[in-house]
Amino acid sequence: MKAIKVKEGVYWVGGIDWNLRSFHGYLTQRGTTYNAYLIIDEKITLIDTVKSYLTSEMLDRIRSVVDPSKIDYVVCNHVEMDHSGGLPEIMKIAPNAALFCSPKGETGLREHYKENWNFKPMESGTVLNLGKRNLHFILTPMVHWPDNMVVYMPEGKILFSNDAFGQHLASSERFDDEYPLDITMLEARKYYANIVLPYSKQVQKILVGITDIDIEIIADSHGIIWRKHVKEIISGYKSWASNETRKKALIVYDTMWHSTEAMALAIQDAFEQSGYVTSLLSLQYNHISDIMTEVIDSEYICIGSPTLNGRMLPTMAAFLTYLLGLAPKNRKSIVFGSYGWGPKQIEEIATTMTESGFNVVATEKIKYVPSAEDLDALRVRILGLL
Ligand code: FEO
Repeated sequence: MKAIKVKEGVYWVGGIDWNLRSFHGYLTQRGTTYNAYLIIDEKITLIDTVKSYLTSEMLDRIRSVVDPSKIDYVVCNHVEMDHSGGLPEIMKIAPNAALFCSPKGETGLREHYKENWNFKPMESGTVLNLGKRNLHFILTPMVHWPDNMVVYMPEGKILFSNDAFGQHLASSERFDDEYPLDITMLEARKYYANIVLPYSKQVQKILVGITDIDIEIIADSHGIIWRKHVKEIISGYKSWASNETRKKALIVYDTMWHSTEAMALAIQDAFEQSGYVTSLLSLQYNHISDIMTEVIDSEYICIGSPTLNGRMLPTMAAFLTYLLGLAPKNRKSIVFGSYGWGPKQIEEIATTMTESGFNVVATEKIKYVPSAEDLDALRVRILGLL
């Protein structure tokens, strides 16, 4: 296991989680990485660590450059255990190392690890001299935990951004000019939709805050490091954080006897006739974290479920819990479904959506099995809205 040079004196020493398929419920079909960085200067500095079970991989990579006991400074940008899991081992190997984090980071690390490490809490705007290089600390609370911060190193123009700009993507390639850009961007979008979306206001503030910083490399904490397409990923974040949508309709549904599915197809047809791009996703075949990737730029989120025991289907209830927690803004919604004798699920879904800030522009229900005439009439009603 070798370190990979990012820039003179700066190395990637992270761990690759090739077989991870679930990151607390997020489907990581391409695995992920936990990126840690080693800076060789008068003060040898480690920025972030890895998930605990990849600590020996990280240590091997560090050893390919320097004896880990020589580490003087450790920077912990984020308490979450995918980045702090290697800390207990590092602090054992280098017990005198100073541990730099945000003030909330100190609280979180003490609560997680119950250790009295040599904490050095840093405020936004403080600068740490390493010798020839300097680390500028920028606190980024709630992107996506209260403790988050990023670190900028002007000598090398590197932003160590932690979770921001990352992607769940395992690869032997480390840089964006070595890996297909469309996959990296897609995974960055999925990461934003599933992790960062609720904190878009805070992201907007950070994007303004880094406008004046000359960034050549974004050394994030998951997946590929940005060095060729820095502008593209920052522009992606600007668009996603602004809740910008396009002429696109996402239709998410589940179905028992294909009646709700027939309604979904009629609704899709109406959107397509009106020039919308559509995405039709059944909860039986699509993971909720992949569906979220489609939410990010959709003007309409259409939600369809038949009735089960007077309620919506449990698959839809799970999806709505996930969707509403991630809190996309400025979206219109159409709620639809078939029913037998009591269409209570429609009201249940519509009320939930409205209370969560969606603009529910129509509710559509059809008894038992829709006829061709029913579907034509549904198409016409949806066309009338667009
Ligand atoms: Fe990648 Fe919030 O941890």
